[in-house]
Amino acid sequence: MTIQDLFSLSVIHQQEHGCGGHPYQNGEILIDVIEKYSPLRVLEVGTALGYTSSLMALSRENIFIETIDQDATHLEKARKYWSDLNVSHKIDEHEGKAEEILPTLIDKYDLIFFDGYTPQLKLLDLFEMLLKKDGVLVTANLYLSDEKGGRYVSRLKNASQWKTTFVADTAIAQKLF
Ligand SMILES: C[S@@+](CC[C@H](N)C(=O)[O-])C[C@H]1O[C@@H](n2cnc3c(N)ncnc32)[C@H](O)[C@@H]1O
Ligand SMILES: [Zn+2]
Repeated sequence: MTIQDLFSLSVIHQQEHGCGGHPYQNGEILIDVIEKYSPLRVLEVGTALGYTSSLMALSRENIFIETIDQDATHLEKARKYWSDLNVSHKIDEHEGKAEEILPTLIDKYDLIFFDGYTPQLKLLDLFEMLLKKDGVLVTANLYLSDEKGGRYVSRLKNASQWKTTFVADTAIAQKLF
């Protein structure tokens, strides 16, 4: 089993399950961010079958990832693939809705990767609280943005608070405050 196999299995799963669990298309962006910022503590929203959590776990030796998903069937499959890829010891899971789990988290993170569905303004407030100063928020799925998603992006364009670049459908925002 390779990480590319897991990407392919995730595509097949998404088609068969008819869910929104398509794997992130721009894995090289995540790898570049990890090389540039060397995060140790990572929080992910949107595990699906574990493709991006595995990719991040494989890309740096002493990285640790907490990942959240509301779909128990996704997490069950992800656990198997983490084991197949020998990254289980670097990943912890939270089952439930991000909006309910994020307020219960105590630690601060170097990197937050949002790959739930539409970026939501109410989650951005929580990401701001959970991200260390100089930490990085990577937000996927900007093409899904509704009006509130537009306000999410507007906030990330506030240059006194965030240093943000956009690549494909993804925002890479370093928290300056
Ligand atoms: C696009 S997929 C994630 C893909 C994954 N990052 C990968 O690259 O394989 C979105 C996932 O987010 C989960 N999700 C969507 N909204 C959520 C929410 N509000 N709270 C928790 N999980 C959510 C869905 O169940 C789905 O598994
Ligand atoms: Zn699914």
